[in-house]
This record gives sequence, structure tokens and C-alpha cells, in this order.
Amino acid sequence: MSTKRWILCAFVFISCVLASSHRPLDENQLFVQDVLQSDGKDYCKPYGQIRDTCCDYQSVESIQSDTFSKIQALVQSKFFKYYKLNLWRECPFWNDDGLCMNRDCSVATTDESLLPEEWRQDALGALQMSPKGSAFQPFKVCTYKDQDFCVADDPSDQDVVYVNLLDNPERFTGYTGPSAGKVWQAIYEENCFNIVHKMSEGCPTCSAISPVPSNSPPLGPLLQDLAGPTGDDGDDEVCLEKRVYYRLISGLHSSISIHICDEYFDRTTGQWGPNLDCFVNRIGAHPERLQNIYFTYAVVLRAVTKLDDYLAQYPFQTGDVAEDEKTKILIHDLISSTKDCPATFDEKTMFQGADSRSLYVEFRDHFRNVSRIMDCVGCEKCRLWGKLQTTGLGTALKVLFAYEDKSLSYRSNPRLLNHNEVVALFNTFNRLSESLEAIQKFRKMYADRLAPPPQQRQLAQTVGDWLKWLLDGARTMAHKLIKLGQLPVPSFLDDPLEPLDPL
Ligand SMILES: Cc1cc2nc3c(=O)[nH]c(=O)nc-3n(C[C@H](O)[C@H](O)[C@H](O)COP(=O)(O)OP(=O)(O)OC[C@H]3O[C@@H](n4cnc5c(N)ncnc54)[C@H](O)[C@@H]3O)c2cc1C
Ligand SMILES: *[C@@H]1O[C@H](CO)[C@@H](O)[C@H](O)[C@H]1NC(C)=O
Repeated sequence: MSTKRWILCAFVFISCVLASSHRPLDENQLFVQDVLQSDGKDYCKPYGQIRDTCCDYQSVESIQSDTFSKIQALVQSKFFKYYKLNLWRECPFWNDDGLCMNRDCSVATTDESLLPEEWRQDALGALQMSPKGSAFQPFKVCTYKDQDFCVADDPSDQDVVYVNLLDNPERFTGYTGPSAGKVWQAIYEENCFNIVHKMSEGCPTCSAISPVPSNSPPLGPLLQDLAGPTGDDGDDEVCLEKRVYYRLISGLHSSISIHICDEYFDRTTGQWGPNLDCFVNRIGAHPERLQNIYFTYAVVLRAVTKLDDYLAQYPFQTGDVAEDEKTKILIHDLISSTKDCPATFDEKTMFQGADSRSLYVEFRDHFRNVSRIMDCVGCEKCRLWGKLQTTGLGTALKVLFAYEDKSLSYRSNPRLLNHNEVVALFNTFNRLSESLEAIQKFRKMYADRLAPPPQQRQLAQTVGDWLKWLLDGARTMAHKLIKLGQLPVPSFLDDPLEPLDPL
């Protein structure tokens, strides 16, 4: 091979390698691009009123940015980082043998002797609170009051353990397949007032999970519909209470999915980190799921703010008076900073119709059942967070619906919430806050993928300049060679050669 030919080949090779770094978007990205180009609106940034609440998306995001560091500090405090539960209760509804044996599924427990003695006495006290006159009696041990939306673990059970939540973060565990699917299915199909199909009617993306469809319709119109107060999303005939129920469950589900995607384990690199494709598949491509997180956040936030007075007198009993005081200040400070939008949700609009009492009982009993279904989750860590978050949501519902406002003071109702309910409520609020935080992160990652950030752009520009320089060089060289008549022009050089004067 002649030297000239070598030089040309080297130029061509380098040019091709450089050119190939400008890969075209793959199918997945094109689909995402569809979602993004929704009328010039930001991806995953819904606008307008959150349906069935008194709040719009922007207010929720602004409350979120004011409170995020506060709730994060709170859940790291001594009172809030320990949760007590039974991780090994049998699934009461079916035989589950799909226990996840993955290391990431297991939970590290905390030795009870390291914790304040008062907490153990609290557990014994809770036993005396067994219900009187509850109509709902399907389980042997009654660990709930008439007002409770959850069936709690029996605190005297030998299997009850303390868990340090900070040591056991909710994240990707690899728990999936029929066992996980069955739990979600039971929740939606048997415990959701049978409205799942109605709620997802007119929602072409609802059942589209993975793989991402290559030619799905643009989601712009959907995003707009669902954000608007008079959205035409086919669920108008479902009454408010049932919609609220469905949205709460779906919002919780979305939130769990986001945590999985935000702390995802990449098997190829062995690293934990956010996974944009996971987010797009599970949430980003389904606007209604995204919106349901905001909804659930608004409801839980409302319950938290209603507890301001109650918690100001709550005995945290961490074994350290200064720590108790600090906890109170943190909570009050957190709640004060949410007052911008005082009523994110108006609980008074619920259960007002003719059949309100039976609807209320049904709502509560379905939710209690969901809390029992959590014992069917076949992965310890998922079960821990599933139980905690259903307890947190159930606590919010109890605060909002089971009591008159005047019964929410510590003086008139000191037993309103037990230790675990307070811990669960605030940790659930924190998980939802983390989801909103993660949505912003994914929004940014998504934008970066489509249009690289300045640094990358700069690099791309440098590479572009280089490429130009090389191509110019190649062109000149090829030009010369062609002139010499020694070489045929390779077809892929046609393009770069075009601007040159015809030979
Ligand atoms: C209580 C619970 C806790 C879990 N915790 C973890 C965990 O901590 N870590 C972990 O890695 N895995 C966890 N899992 C498993 C995880 O939730 C998924 O089931 C699993 O990752 C498989 O996901 P998937 O994409 O098949 O869809 P899934 O999330 O299993 O969803 C099943 C179906 O429900 C519908 N759906 C999905 N999202 C929504 C929504 N937001 N609203 C309405 N409908 C929806 C879709 O039709 C979907 O096909 C948990 C499961 C349960 C039941
Ligand atoms: C409770 O859940 C189980 C399992 O999904 C279901 O079979 C049962 O009908 C539910 N009961 C109530 C009261 O919702």
C-alpha cells in the first residue's frame, strides 16, 4: 500500500470514528422526545391545579423546596429513624413462596436494648387500646381502633423488631416478577372499588410499560388534559371519594417506583445511581402516575399541617429532654414553612353525599385490607417500606377523616397517634418529598440527554472543530490524490467533497 493511500485511510478512519460519536437518538429517546415536545412545556413538569386538591403544581413544588432540607433533617433524628414492626407475618390472603433471597432485600434490625425504655412501655400501653365495637373483624388479634385506617402489628408479638430506617434505605432490590405483580394486582383489582379500569380508560399509556413503544402517540394533549381542573380523562363518573382512593394508591406506587429508579443498581457497572430509562418507562411516559404523586403529597402534607398543635405537646420520649425539644422545634419549623398554601387538600369535601357513611366504611376497610396485603410482599426491605408507607398514608387518612378538627388537640385526644404512626407519617412524607426531588433530577437528566450541558457542549464543539480540521485535511489530501488520478473516490467521501470545486 502506498504512503498516500495510508494517509487517506487514516484520515478517513479517524473521521468516521469521530463522526460516529454523534450517534442518532435511539427509539427509546425518540419516544421520550415525543413526551418532551408537548407544546413547549417542560418534561414532567405539570402545570395548573392538581385535580381534587386545592393546590396547583407550582405551589407544591415551592413548598417542597422550602421543606425538603427540614424533613430530611427530621427523619435523621433519633425519634424518627427507628420503626417497629413485624417483618415476618404470614400473608393472610394467599401462599407466598417468592421470598426474595437477594442480599439487597434483607433488613438489618436494631437491638431493642439500645433504645429508650419508654418506647417499650409505650408498646405495652398500646395493647390496652384494643377496639370496642368495631364492625370490621376479619382478623384474630385486633390491633386497631374504629378510627384506624390500618391494621397494625401486634406490638407484643415476639417477631416484632426495631429497624433503623437510615440503615435500610428503600431502593432497587431486584424484587419483581409474579410475587410483586400479584400484590399490586390485588391492591388495584380487589381493593380499589373496582374502578381501576375506569380510571385508566382514555389513557393510552397506562398499560404501556416495557418495552417503550416505538410509535406511541404524542403525550402532549394528555399532559394538558390531566393538569386542567376539568380534565376529560374519562373518570368524571367516578365519585370524588373513589378517585381520591385510587390516586392515593397510585401515587404511593409511583413514589415507590421512583425510589427504585433513583437508586438503581446497574449490574454492568456495579454502581448505584439514578436510571433515567427506568424513570421514563415507569413514570415519565405516564403523566397520570406522575400527577398522582403530587396528589398524594398534597394529601399527606395537609394531614401533617393539621397536626401542628397536637405534635407541639407530643411526648417524644427519646430519653433526652433536649432532643425531645429539638424534635418539636424541627416539626414546628417544618409545618410553619408549608403555610404558604394552607389547604393543599380540602378534606371537608369528602364523604358528604347521601351514601357517605357506607362509602366511608368501605373506603376505610379497603385501606385496612391494603395494609394487610403488605404482609404478602415477598422481600423484607420492600415489606418494611410498604408497611411503613401504608401506615403513614393510613395515619394521614385517619387525621383527615376520622376526627373532627377539635379532636386533633393533644389535650382532648392524647392517644390520637401512637409512636409508630407519627414515625410512619413523617417518613412517608419524606419519601414523597424525595420523589418530588428525584423528579426534578430526572427532568434535568432528561434535558441533558437531549441537549448536553455547557461543559459537554463545549467538548462537542472542540470535537466538532477537530473533526472539521481533519475533514478539511482529508478533503485537501483526497483532492490532491484525485487530481493525481491515482485513486477512485470512495463513495462515503462524496459528501465532504461536495463543497469543493468540480474537478
Ligand atoms: C409494596 C411493594 C413495595 C415494593 N418495594 C420495592 C422496593 O423497595 N424495591 C424494589 O426494587 N422493588 C420493590 N417492589 C417491586 C416493584 O414495585 C415492582 O413491582 C417491580 O419493580 C416490577 O415493576 P414493573 O415495572 O413490572 O411494574 P409494577 O410496578 O409491578 O406495576 C404493576 C402494574 O401496575 C400498573 N402501574 C404501575 N405503576 C402504576 C401507578 N403509579 N399507578 C397506577 N398503576 C400503575 C401497571 O399496569 C403495571 O404493569 C415493591 C413491590 C410492592 C408491592
Ligand atoms: C381484601 O383483599 C383480599 C386479597 O386481595 C380480597 O380477596 C378481599 O376481597 C379484600 N377484602 C376487602 C374487604 O377489601
